[in-house]
Amino acid sequence: MHATPSLHATQSIQDQVYAQWAKDPERFWAEAGEAVHWYKHWDRVLDGSRAPFYRWFPGGVVNSCYNALDRHVEQGRADQPALIYDSPVTGTIKTFTYRELRDEVARFAGVLRGQGVRTGDRVIIYMPMVPEAVVAMLACARIGAIHSVVFGGFASHELAARISHAEPTLIVSASCGIEVNRVVPYKPLLDKAIELASGKPRSCIILQRPEERAPLVAGRDYDWSELMAAPQPAECVPVAATDPLYILYTSGTTGMPKGVVRDNGGHLVALKWSMTHIYGVEPGEVYWAASDLGWAVGHSYIVYGPLFNGNTTVLYEGKPVGTPDPGAFWRVISQHRVSVFFTAPTAIRAIKRDDPTGEHVRRYDLARFRTFFLAGERCDPDTLHWAEQQLGVPVIDHWWQTETGWPIGVNCVGLGMLPVKPGSCAKAVVGYDVRVLGEDGQELTSGQTGNIVIRLPLPPGCLPTLWHNDEGYVRSYVSRYPGYYLTADAGYKDADGYLWVMGRTDDIINVAGHRLSTGAMEEVLASHPDVAECAVVGVADKIKGEIPLGLVVLKAGVQRPAAAIADEVVGMVRERIGPVAAFRIAVVVQRLPKTRSGKILRGTVKRIADGTEYRVPPTIDDPTTLDEIAAVLAAVGYPRR
Ligand code: COA
Ligand code: AMP
Repeated sequence: MHATPSLHATQSIQDQVYAQWAKDPERFWAEAGEAVHWYKHWDRVLDGSRAPFYRWFPGGVVNSCYNALDRHVEQGRADQPALIYDSPVTGTIKTFTYRELRDEVARFAGVLRGQGVRTGDRVIIYMPMVPEAVVAMLACARIGAIHSVVFGGFASHELAARISHAEPTLIVSASCGIEVNRVVPYKPLLDKAIELASGKPRSCIILQRPEERAPLVAGRDYDWSELMAAPQPAECVPVAATDPLYILYTSGTTGMPKGVVRDNGGHLVALKWSMTHIYGVEPGEVYWAASDLGWAVGHSYIVYGPLFNGNTTVLYEGKPVGTPDPGAFWRVISQHRVSVFFTAPTAIRAIKRDDPTGEHVRRYDLARFRTFFLAGERCDPDTLHWAEQQLGVPVIDHWWQTETGWPIGVNCVGLGMLPVKPGSCAKAVVGYDVRVLGEDGQELTSGQTGNIVIRLPLPPGCLPTLWHNDEGYVRSYVSRYPGYYLTADAGYKDADGYLWVMGRTDDIINVAGHRLSTGAMEEVLASHPDVAECAVVGVADKIKGEIPLGLVVLKAGVQRPAAAIADEVVGMVRERIGPVAAFRIAVVVQRLPKTRSGKILRGTVKRIADGTEYRVPPTIDDPTTLDEIAAVLAAVGYPRR
């Protein structure tokens, strides 16, 4: 049971708006829907006839690219910057006005058409943080093709799994990405992924970057700039509000990621509403989300949200530290006159480590900077306080998931601010009826920790299903507690209705704001010929929040040195999943701690590695395995002091 200070405040505007929504949700969303452009209005706001599969705005006809670009060009924003590309790793800053971006997107949409991409076809985009990636996403939206962006830090096997599942007609990629200390050639990873995938794309369009050009496969690969030289621009294609805009694969509990589907109409309405009411940003202002296009934050708040709202968005190809120093974020905010900024707490921890007294903050004029949002993982109060003190602006933690695509719990700055409680993401946003349930499905009272769920239907913008996997959608999200969406997060609500999201209840870990599956890593470890069984747990890390740690048991009779096998499995995870997994520590143990029914006690291993108190589970098969594990972990420096 958790006791937190009570506020006893009078009803806030956020509470009042929430109450309006709760009284008549369909009316609320119908009114919100008026803020976007429709070729044809919806027949119904919500179709719940196939529950638990809900559809928002059926009968409506829209185009997401039209709402992001053309609409603003036609309504007086043609010369306003739409996108500022700021790339310290290449020393480039380039601005695209709304007109320029619209024209570029229309040309690339023409290129896609020329390559045979039709409405409803899938296009995989595997690119670094370059403007061409945004152009490719919006060009797909323009012609009603479904994009699926794959994060550049994933390696061939992960990319291959997505190619096999999404069956793209075409892949857009680049010759390389640029990390702080190295150029990462993308093309060999792409070629290998296509080789591994069960279905092959008809063609690939490759952006050749000067840092490293890639050899092209004749008859399959085309050079971006050659194709862009003479295309027929394509106009926006009206699509059904319920048609998919994109698929974004995210880690599930196994090696096979889940293909989260986003529709056009609901997404458009929800994101437009969120920009003004949650982020409190007015059209014309500069908004920056320092994330990656490969994640949901990048989709929603680098590309679609700010552009739907007529903002200037920043695309940053760099890191919080090292490009060139821990003042990089403050330089961008100052130079591009950013009003509202969004990143992950891990980035702030990295900056705080390198600049604890905020000397780099004081080098810049941050007069325009108004609000700072954090999400992607739980924000520890120390990090929040440090940012508040150094920056002198409100720091807002907010909670959401790839599946929802926009915040579930947040302090809605656009509706007037609620008091901040560090460690809490504040309250449920309109559209989300958030409850905390016990194992038996009974609702828990305030302060009691349980499974956080959302009463169905989910609001517009959230996933209607998983790509080609209705059954998986039901199994993962809506079967545990019928009538509710299972967030797989645990936490509680306090007496003021604030949500405290404390951690996942499944095998997902959050490494530097990146969502990863320990199950997927275990599949890689288990495929090593000398490994009999294994477990991967997320252990605490000062900067990244969590990092994976692998335990492997060798097959009987294996004589090779344990250290060599540990190195090999580390290499295999990097090779199969990618460097982003940050899997650097594997240890060989004699046995894994298990219950009598054979379940591996991963939670207990994590507690031993973290140095937190644990009790020996009564169901344990042999308690001495815990001592053995503690000794092996101590030898590699766990718990960290
Ligand atoms: N392409 C290729 N490789 C990539 C990559 C990409 N797009 N992104 C990351 N990597 C690589 C890195 O180079 C690194 O490789 P290394 O093992 O050879 O050093 C590895 O993947 C791990 O990367 P990362 O997790 O970024 O760790 P880091 O130590 O380089 O940086 C932080 C740490 C905290 C600065 C960084 O993780 C960060 O900025 N995180 C914010 C994340 C974020 O914005 N998340 C979005 C949610 S809102
Ligand atoms: P992703 O799908 O990558 O956005 O990751 C979603 C998960 O990140 C959530 O289910 C949470 O476990 C975690 N998360 C994101 N934001 C927060 C937050 N503000 N507080 C606590 N956990 C968060």
